[in-house]
Amino acid sequence: MKLCIINGPNLNLLGKREPEIYGSTTFNGFFSELKNKYPDLNLSYFQSNSEGEIVSQLQEVGFGADGIILNAGAYTHTSVAIADAVSAISSPVIEVHISNVYARETFRHHSYLSAVAKGCIIGLGLDGYRLAIDYFLRNQ
Ligand code: DQA
Repeated sequence: MKLCIINGPNLNLLGKREPEIYGSTTFNGFFSELKNKYPDLNLSYFQSNSEGEIVSQLQEVGFGADGIILNAGAYTHTSVAIADAVSAISSPVIEVHISNVYARETFRHHSYLSAVAKGCIIGLGLDGYRLAIDYFLRNQ
């Protein structure tokens, strides 16, 4: 089974970015844990701070992957282009947010992605990525 994690802007700073909100674990460290936990999974990880690169990556993997786990960061709240890419591809996309965006500023309460995603996992920390993997594994 092929699953792809795509992270958007500033998520490369996990571990040192506002640790009181996002925790103190780096994504690379967490990704290694995921690889160890799911050795039989073809699991890839892509991060970009650029909207267009996220669109291109969705197009690249979105017709072959069995599932995509997308945390588009701040583009969640602004990007029609990423929402259109999610609609355009055939792989199902789960939207993940580490923090509970509904408990934060109101500009974080709207997502362009939620309506076109298969589902959303919000506010459960990095565990959200693992829960999304488990969903895809149970619903192959
Ligand atoms: C985030 C929430 C977004 O509002 C924010 O811009 C991020 C991270 C999260 O995972 O909680 O960069 O997507």
